[in-house]
Amino acid sequence: MIFMLLLALESSCDETAAAVVRDGQQVLSNIIASQVDLHAVYGGVVPELASRRHLEVINPLVEEALTTAGVKQEDLEGVVVTRGPGLVGALLVGVSFAKAYAYALKIPLIGVHHIEGHIQAIQLEERVEYPFLAVAVSGGHTHLFRVDGIGRYRLLGRTVDDAAGEAFDKVAKMMGLGYPGGPIIDKLAGANDDGGIVFPRPMVKKHNFDFSFSGVKTAVLNYLHRLQEPPDETTISQIACAFQTAVVDVITQKSVRAAESEGLNRIVVAGGVACNSGLRTKFAELAVSSGLEIFFPSPLLCADNSAMLAVAGDYYLSSGLFSGLDLNAVSNWPLEQVRCA
Ligand code: KG4
Ligand code: ZN
Repeated sequence: MIFMLLLALESSCDETAAAVVRDGQQVLSNIIASQVDLHAVYGGVVPELASRRHLEVINPLVEEALTTAGVKQEDLEGVVVTRGPGLVGALLVGVSFAKAYAYALKIPLIGVHHIEGHIQAIQLEERVEYPFLAVAVSGGHTHLFRVDGIGRYRLLGRTVDDAAGEAFDKVAKMMGLGYPGGPIIDKLAGANDDGGIVFPRPMVKKHNFDFSFSGVKTAVLNYLHRLQEPPDETTISQIACAFQTAVVDVITQKSVRAAESEGLNRIVVAGGVACNSGLRTKFAELAVSSGLEIFFPSPLLCADNSAMLAVAGDYYLSSGLFSGLDLNAVSNWPLEQVRCA
């Protein structure tokens, strides 16, 4: 194992992030510039605005990451960057910056899969033995993978329509709650009162490990349409609670079944939706009743950040795998196509 000091960069969606990580383990800095305010007025991410903002902030962000880490540019031994999936214009800012930086410093470069970053982020906080089941829940993913190591992923199931985070965001938008909806619904659901409202748990009984969230979303819309008058604060909280409970039920039940069917006794939950307190509580209960070990990174490492990329980045570079200066961004890149030589 060669020990490396890496600069990690992320710009796949609406967060620009720069981090300095030693040995794929020790996070010296992890700076995140969120664009939430920029996009909130539109109720979702506007790709062109995202790219422009990445371009404006990436330079000072890298400076800040180096200063916070107490590291000089010339101390860096490699650059790791999100290659995809994501918004192509946004990705290109990080990829182009990383290529120029690596070229100027004459250090190696590696492009990493965003979801591989999310899944391996846990290794920055505690060592989780392979194999494990990864539950990748974010704005673009609700996927279950068997993980046998870095670069070794087998897809077991995935959403056939909306991702869980997308469903949270859309339901919040329907109720006029703002963007991003996940954290807002999570907070409202915290009152723990569903007022007896029950939304469907799509595909929960099916024997595969796929998900569908558009039906729950439509059920919320129909419920809102049936109300005689605009919902008051209590009703909004009850809908939020009932919706979150339905989503959490489906994710947790299917994950546990998938782990059991693969003979896996460890589950890692990753991605922005892994911040959800209902999901964390339910998985913690299931850990007790099922005997499974369930791991969640801390919220800062669940949401988009770039330190998470350094786990796989360090491993690849230390194994002699690196990207050329012809590295391109890929907007659509299934994780199971990532292969570690
Ligand atoms: O991983 P992430 O930061 O970006 C993507 O790779 O997509 O995930 C963003 C998603 C958004 O849909 C956001 O609403 C959701 O994660 N999210 C949450 C919570 N915090 C963020 N969803 C539910 N509960 C939360 N506390
Ligand atoms: Zn993400």
